[in-house]
Amino acid sequence: MNAPNIRNFSIIAHIDHGKSTLADRLLELTGAVEKRKMREQFLDQMELERERGITIKMQPVRMLWHPQSQISKIKSQKDLEIASSEYILNLIDTPGHIDFSYEVSRALKAVEGAILLVDATQGPEAQTLSNLELAREQELAIIPVVNKIDLPSAAPEEVALQIEQLLGIKKEEIIFISAKTGEGVERVLESVVKNIPAPSYEYKDRFRALVFDFDYSDHQGIILYVRIMDGSVERGDKLLLSQVKETFSAKDVGFFTPLRKECGRLAAGEIGYIVTNIKKPSIAVIGDSVVAAENPLPPLSGYQPPKPVIWASIYPLSSDDFDELKNALARLRLSDSSLVCEEETNVALGRGFRCGFLGMLHLEIITERIKREFNLEIIAASPTVNYKVQLNDGSEKIIYSPSSFPNEGEIKRLYELWSEVKIIIPSEMLGSVMRVLHSHEAIVESTSSFGGSRIVVNAVMPLRELMRNFFDELKSATSGYASMDYKILGFREASPKEVLRLDILVAGEEVPAFSRITSRERIEREGREAVERLKELLPRALFPIKIQARAMGRIIASETIPALKKNVTGHLYGGDRTRKMKLWEKQKKGKKKLQKFGRVEIPQEVFIKMVRQK
Ligand code: GTP
Repeated sequence: MNAPNIRNFSIIAHIDHGKSTLADRLLELTGAVEKRKMREQFLDQMELERERGITIKMQPVRMLWHPQSQISKIKSQKDLEIASSEYILNLIDTPGHIDFSYEVSRALKAVEGAILLVDATQGPEAQTLSNLELAREQELAIIPVVNKIDLPSAAPEEVALQIEQLLGIKKEEIIFISAKTGEGVERVLESVVKNIPAPSYEYKDRFRALVFDFDYSDHQGIILYVRIMDGSVERGDKLLLSQVKETFSAKDVGFFTPLRKECGRLAAGEIGYIVTNIKKPSIAVIGDSVVAAENPLPPLSGYQPPKPVIWASIYPLSSDDFDELKNALARLRLSDSSLVCEEETNVALGRGFRCGFLGMLHLEIITERIKREFNLEIIAASPTVNYKVQLNDGSEKIIYSPSSFPNEGEIKRLYELWSEVKIIIPSEMLGSVMRVLHSHEAIVESTSSFGGSRIVVNAVMPLRELMRNFFDELKSATSGYASMDYKILGFREASPKEVLRLDILVAGEEVPAFSRITSRERIEREGREAVERLKELLPRALFPIKIQARAMGRIIASETIPALKKNVTGHLYGGDRTRKMKLWEKQKKGKKKLQKFGRVEIPQEVFIKMVRQK
């Protein structure tokens, strides 16, 4: 059985190839958004998304399309049927940055087809490949589209050839468009209707849906974003969340315009939402199934859990805000299940959380959202990994933060986590990839070529090195063509003389958030770089600020930010020397007081900038 007049699809592309712009044109063409209400990147609803021009969060939207007036050429009976019908098109707009690929894989489970968008000035890139791989794994219909043909630097023919060779898609299938001017966009809609299969289902009368996302509101509780796989759901139905075994009654059901719009009923093949009124945000699980409470169908297969690459501690600036931070993270986890959090305590910073992120952009976005959406001031410490140490007295402990890493002399044995890395690259880039691997202490275990022009490299390396910007370096060494996956191998012994702690002191005081663990080989350079960078970033004060790097029991680098000279006597004309002297005295005292406390205010942006490694 299928729902003949529904088409569900996503747009997949490398970052900035024009997904959101194409979505804008589709919304316009189908009249889903009135032209006068249209603004650029309409589906990027989050303030942060609009500001940065990137999509962070997937966004579903329903459009209605009557092809009769628009279908280009009626050549067959099928064309005629299409032209005389009306279609419900459900689009899920997804992010392009690798940090958010988990969002993409979730969206793809809810649809039957994908528009593969490639920039005519760039050609296919890493994310094009990996997203296409994801789409093919789901056996989705692919509509290849070359975008930005209006640009003078566009090379549509060349790019089409690359798509054919690299992605194995026939050139004749490619649609050429400009999402900006709207040229060719109608043909994309036509192809969606013609080439993407209508959603099929097994049961007409028994309800089952896949939960691909969530939202939460204080008065409606958890709102499930669902793709109905079987049967139908109506307002008031008694339902069950399979995995967490929570029953509830559907307070409301509806679809996305992209805003939520009630409709009372959703049937197999449709994409929409169910209001649960469950007021326990932490129970929600992405990939769960929602079924009828009575005589339920077995759950659908869910999603692979995400793998965080970066771990960083987040603390509230004021310890009174701990509960609010806890709540904020629980809320963010609802709409971003790739965020992993665990409570931890740090002597210097108090109670906070150790969180796992998919990359640096993800870390940055989450900290920014905590600040904006929850109005919280936070400190994000340098990303790090766990270590296991055996001290001279025989005791063993796990070290969670660099600032509690013992001094070299106290350690008898040291263990660190290792990872196994798989990288796929075009053959000609092997040389530059080997250089990046070498500089990250990797041991290459095997290389094997496939498909004539690509190579798989298997290597192992300390997790600390994987986190030290490895992926970014790999990407830039390969112009974004490398795709990478990794898994954790467990603890391996390391030498306490080779893996060391580096501390940063500001005005003589250690700033625990800036401490890090690094290799002996890199420590001098990292110490110097950190000190110089901090010198650039810290605002000047009325007194000189000393910035030092300390390792192996000594200062390895030092810089001083000169005092800001405030002209306290400038407004006094003439010769009243005693008054001037008095003011100078006062200023000197002030300086002393500040220096004595040694408490330099380090602004939040400086923390975040220091956390982001270059
Ligand atoms: P993410 O949401 O960050 O993944 O990016 P995206 O793929 O959604 O790209 P977006 O739609 O934000 O477009 C990126 C940039 O390309 C924007 O500045 C668009 O205005 C521009 N752009 C998109 N399509 C076209 C096009 O057809 N022609 C021209 N000239 N510019 C375009």
